Amino acid sequence: MRMPLLQVESLAAGYGKGEVLDDISFALFPGSLAYFLGPCGSGKTTLFMAIAGIVRPKRGMIRFDGEDLRRKRPTELLARGIAYVPHNRLLCSSLSVRENLLAAVWRDTDRARVEEQAARLVHRLPFLKACEHQSASRLTDGERQLLAIARALMTRPRLLLLDDPFDALSPAEADEVAGLGAELAGEGTAVVIAQRSAAPAACAGVTAYLLDAGRLSRSQAPQGPARPGLAAAS
Ligand SMILES: Nc1ncnc2c1ncn2[C@@H]1O[C@H](COP(=O)(O)OP(=O)(O)OP(=O)(O)O)[C@@H](O)[C@H]1O
Ligand SMILES: [Mg+2]
Repeated sequence: MRMPLLQVESLAAGYGKGEVLDDISFALFPGSLAYFLGPCGSGKTTLFMAIAGIVRPKRGMIRFDGEDLRRKRPTELLARGIAYVPHNRLLCSSLSVRENLLAAVWRDTDRARVEEQAARLVHRLPFLKACEHQSASRLTDGERQLLAIARALMTRPRLLLLDDPFDALSPAEADEVAGLGAELAGEGTAVVIAQRSAAPAACAGVTAYLLDAGRLSRSQAPQGPARPGLAAAS
């Protein structure tokens, strides 16, 4: 039987004594593309941060490749293949594009591997080549989002959590980011995207989970090949 890559069971999480998420259960397989849709404050970021080890679960279980993640630190989860791209992208504006990429894997002492990974990403995302030595502060919002994803890809993730990646992007930029997410899923990475607005009808092949006040209210199973159009990112 095929094992889920990520399994979340009856998860409750929040901040201090307050609970934000309650009784969240779902499973993701390698190569899946899933959207978590919900209004402001519904708990999307909290869920992603719980999976990435930044917020500690209060109850329930999170398994990655069958392993209990609940007591692991974010850096341990990153090493296992869970990459979280936060809403604000958290790029270092004073560094160049290339330096941002390399900073993602500063712990990796295998420089040949790091260089090869950076070269592969520059080849994949041609805009990186054009601005490789430019300050990250000069990028457009769309380029910043692509760089944030590229930086996460430097860690060779098996699960990529993209928090609100379409915010402030032009339609063309949003389409590019959505296309990259679908491509990565096609290559076997599980890609999970949080966004506020819902347009699951345009997302053939995509599982859409609806979050409402910290609870999963509904999910829509995949219907075809994963390649969301721009409507999914509106
Ligand atoms: N650091 C924090 N401390 C306390 N409460 C928080 C913290 N971060 C978020 N919250 C609360 O948790 C709830 C869920 O917030 P969360 O950011 O997870 O929602 P979201 O769905 O990502 O919203 P958005 O669409 O605005 O990004 C909100 O009520 C929010 O006020
Ligand atoms: Mg959020």
